[in-house]
Amino acid sequence: MPVRAVYPGSFDPLTNGHLDLIERSLRIFDELVVAVVTNPAKTALFSDDERVEMVRESTRHLREIEIVVFDGLLVDLVGRVGAQAVVRGLRVVSDFEYEFQMALMNRKLRGDVETVFLMPHEAYTYISSRLIKEVAGYGGSVRGLVPAGVELRLREKVSRG
Ligand code: PNS
Repeated sequence: MPVRAVYPGSFDPLTNGHLDLIERSLRIFDELVVAVVTNPAKTALFSDDERVEMVRESTRHLREIEIVVFDGLLVDLVGRVGAQAVVRGLRVVSDFEYEFQMALMNRKLRGDVETVFLMPHEAYTYISSRLIKEVAGYGGSVRGLVPAGVELRLREKVSRG
């Protein structure tokens, strides 16, 4: 039976760290669903559609992945798409506490879903979507830290104010 995993996140925006994790996941799992959490509070810089499009255009060179937008509980989505695992990235120790809590809560909600933690390449350990937005917002360069298409979209957002 093919093993299917869900890689969930805000992806606001997708970074090279996320992309690295997608590539690593594809080496382990037969099928991958990238799940972009919807943003009801509208606090994200990019819309749901833009965040999906950034994942789509940045993964064209890879084996096909499914991309979905979801709201509600992650474990419900995992059940809906017939996945067995959730992938999350661990960059630094400070990620661990929050990730551990989420993984155990998800296990409590749905005991048959395993959370698998992967480490991105060490070149990406300091990258976060939050810092990317901050640097780009002040006109700093994020080249090499995000896919080229994302860099362009960030520049457009900033120039539009
Ligand atoms: O990229 P992020 O913002 O760190 O991703 C967080 C995400 C989307 C994985 C998390 O907020 C989530 O799973 N949200 C869905 C709601 C849910 O299931 N909450 C309970 C998790 S314990």
